[in-house]
Amino acid sequence: MTNRKCFISGIAGQDGSYLAELLLASGYEVHGIVRRNSVSEQQHTRLDHLGEKVHVYYGDLADLSGLERLFRDLQPAEIYNLAGQSHVRISYDIPQYTVQTNAVGVLNILEAYRSGCPEARFYQASSSEMFGSSVEADGFQRETTPMVPVSPYGCSKLFGFSIVRNYRDAYKMHASNGILFNHESPRRGSNFVTNKTIKTAVQIKLGLETTLELGNLDSYRDWGHAKDYVRAMHLIVQQDIPGDWVVATGETRSVRDMCRYVFNSLELNYEDHVVSNARFLRPQELPYLKGDATRIMAETGWKPEYSFEQLMDEMIDSWLCYYSTSR
Ligand code: NAP
Ligand code: GDD
Repeated sequence: MTNRKCFISGIAGQDGSYLAELLLASGYEVHGIVRRNSVSEQQHTRLDHLGEKVHVYYGDLADLSGLERLFRDLQPAEIYNLAGQSHVRISYDIPQYTVQTNAVGVLNILEAYRSGCPEARFYQASSSEMFGSSVEADGFQRETTPMVPVSPYGCSKLFGFSIVRNYRDAYKMHASNGILFNHESPRRGSNFVTNKTIKTAVQIKLGLETTLELGNLDSYRDWGHAKDYVRAMHLIVQQDIPGDWVVATGETRSVRDMCRYVFNSLELNYEDHVVSNARFLRPQELPYLKGDATRIMAETGWKPEYSFEQLMDEMIDSWLCYYSTSR
């Protein structure tokens, strides 16, 4: 019988939880790790609805021995490395920790994979933040665009990306990178700009808050839906030949445009409520992202199903529902 066991690091994160759902629905046996946390009740909130269907263990990318033991015992057919310190501004506060997790952690999980289950297929959660200040003349970033990261997070992800390519070429392992542009959902952490904006705009609408403090409103991002992007992860791993694929919508909007859409949807004017707070500025900003996903579309048939407006509307509805049931 075909081995349908998969392993997800970061399974309790935004992407990990959607990927677990997708893989369960596709008939996989889903295993994953969460980090030990002193408030264990909050550890699985994004997974609670899946109950006993997912097999969750304590583990950490910093703990090579635990990863080795897990892979030796489980013998997964597919490994998705989604664990990471995923916040770019916070990577300036904790640069060494970010590098330990996002760079050395990738090396650790690759080593555990190489020694424990080298026949498995491997996916690495690489990021458009690796492109940094680099944009092609036609305004896009694609697989061939030079990478000039502008944050500790971007630098750490570039190491992870590079070491995956190195292991693929050196040891002939089926290890691929998805270079994913920003993707959001109602499960997005509320300190990322979309969910922070939407949560606070809903609070303002309900009279619970008056202002929204943001940093730079003039950067541009290519925002998609996390559900669409975990489909791409799975498709990448199913390719016969491993490689690196950009996953993006090909549309870009400024943070200001996103604010305008969200506040307008709630019949508010963002200019009446958004104030600037230098605390949310970054020492160096990545000003512009717009991804060219031609390769993954042509080779796998992937395309995004959610529009920007559908994504924002789902997130707005989710916060409206949260406050209507919690008040
Ligand atoms: P997320 O919601 O922050 O999830 C990351 C998960 O990784 C969390 O469950 C976190 O656990 C876990 N984690 C952090 N450090 C760990 C460690 N040392 N060992 C084991 N687990 C660890 O992020 P996401 O949006 O799902 O993103 C998934 C991955 O894709 C991340 O690597 C991110 O950098 C990358 N990525 C995301 C995007 C995007 O727009 N969402 C785009 C490109 C790439 P705790 O909850 O305990 O912290
Ligand atoms: N988080 C945040 N908070 N961002 C703000 C704020 C604020 O108060 N005000 C303005 N911004 C701007 C940031 O300066 C940035 O230009 C943009 O909003 C998006 O910020 P985030 O939502 O934090 O996302 P990100 O683009 O830095 O990083 C996300 O996307 C990467 C892929 O490009 C994360 O998901 C990364 O993990 C991911 O790799």
